[in-house]
Amino acid sequence: MPETASPAGASASQEAEISAALGTRSVVLVGMMGAGKSTIGRRLSARLRLPFLDADIEIEAAAGMSIPDIFETHGEPHFRDGEARVIARLLDGGPAVIATGGGAFMREETRSRIGSRAVSIWLKADADVIMKRVKRRADRPLLQTADPAATVGRLIEEREPVYQRADITIWSRDVPHEKIVDECIDALHAWLCHNSTETSNTMGATQ
Ligand code: S3P
Repeated sequence: MPETASPAGASASQEAEISAALGTRSVVLVGMMGAGKSTIGRRLSARLRLPFLDADIEIEAAAGMSIPDIFETHGEPHFRDGEARVIARLLDGGPAVIATGGGAFMREETRSRIGSRAVSIWLKADADVIMKRVKRRADRPLLQTADPAATVGRLIEEREPVYQRADITIWSRDVPHEKIVDECIDALHAWLCHNSTETSNTMGATQ
């Protein structure tokens, strides 16, 4: 790309380079409920011209029932087994941008599949941002507790050391979605096209 290229042109070529470097691998978004995985994932997929897949929606379609109903009728372990199977299938059909449910990356088998079939992005969000966002929907079985804020705090503590193993970390905060998407694109480009671990594992998290 010549030095004189417009920013839009430069960005389009960055996106094309990412797609080429991905091959059949997917981009997988991990992180807590309310971190913005579906919102950012949908926009990121449009920028990369890849299909967008939401693992929670795919699980509901495969089970023929909603996530709260799966939890209530069959229990969480059954949901987790179905979640692992669905994510394995989605990864086999790549490339795509895949948003996973907040607990999916906690399973070793799923993490290792993601490691070999995808580039993972942890959308990291603070507890207050998460609380503000999850309050908008009442369909998360794990948050049907007497003190959802305490539950979120406990889940963050348990899960962050594992989310941290994602290839890339992006700080999901209250800024326009396109800014977070731009940061994902920059970090993916650095990770895939320059193989620079230095930039990719902290990008967006330190600003
Ligand atoms: C869960 C997160 C949910 C959904 C299920 C369990 C979790 O997905 O998979 O309710 O364990 O954190 P989102 O992260 O998309 O809300």
